[in-house]
Amino acid sequence: WPAMAEDIAAIERLKRTRGAIVLAHNYQTPEIFHTVSDIVGDSLALAREAAKTDADVIVVAGVHFMAETAKLLNPDKTVLIPDSRAGCSLAESITPADVRALRLAHPGVPVITYVNTSAALKAETDICCTSGNALKVVESLGVPKVIMVPDEYLARNIAAQTDVEIITWGGHCEVHERFSVADIAEIRAAYGDVTVIAHPECPPEVVAASDFAGSTAEMIGFVDTRRPTRVALVTECSMADNVAVHYPEVDFVRPCNLCPHMKRITLSGIRRALETMGEEVTIDPAIAAAARRSVERMLAIG
Ligand code: 13P
Ligand code: SF4
Repeated sequence: WPAMAEDIAAIERLKRTRGAIVLAHNYQTPEIFHTVSDIVGDSLALAREAAKTDADVIVVAGVHFMAETAKLLNPDKTVLIPDSRAGCSLAESITPADVRALRLAHPGVPVITYVNTSAALKAETDICCTSGNALKVVESLGVPKVIMVPDEYLARNIAAQTDVEIITWGGHCEVHERFSVADIAEIRAAYGDVTVIAHPECPPEVVAASDFAGSTAEMIGFVDTRRPTRVALVTECSMADNVAVHYPEVDFVRPCNLCPHMKRITLSGIRRALETMGEEVTIDPAIAAAARRSVERMLAIG
């Protein structure tokens, strides 16, 4: 505890001297989420807030693609990530050459990329989406068929809600793919009156067995508006820890799988990032403009 308090005090001091803010994803541990973070949210909220900030320095307490998105939207600012090894199995699952091959196989079909991808991947695609706006983005294009990469399960979960045909890829989130229908059945058997909320990166049969599916922000919105007596958030471990603090009257069942990438970000890492001004996120100018266009098109949809 004393070491943690010392890190928090140092980070607050450094934020002032550097003109910095800390953006934190909903999967960050409570000691980051509830202390040094200036903005917390899902991937969509972090992208939106990154586009608005007038801070000189942005520290991203999240994974690498989130820091790249912040940099794309703030090319002249310093964007830091406390540990650049914080990757994502989805971002790793596809290359720009794969997208070019998909385009050749499906000429004229627009390509939507999940925000959980590298800037180089985004540069090959027409528009980005997050789990919070994927349906809206698919339907905004006004076409009968789209390519949506790389998350197979997100694409199939969205396809179940629209008439637009969705061609997808075989990428999976290593955290959410591990949840099974048996897990949901076990939760329901153990807690009769539980509301089960799944992230749409889960397999479609898990989503079908749940009561609601949505992005991490939509999960919070559901708890906030519906106030279920008991809820199971079928997602990364820190999520329920962070949300439960605000809803003491709601009983949180905590099924969870840990994201090892998100967990690379620590308080001491954030402190070190601000002390050393590293690791700075940079994006090859040759791909930045095209990647930025994809993100900005998404943000314009609202
Ligand atoms: P959202 O916060 O956009 O729901 O994304 C979840 C996730 O896995 C981010 O890496
Ligand atoms: Fe990637 Fe899944 Fe971790 Fe999110 S939770 S960063 S999608 S591996």
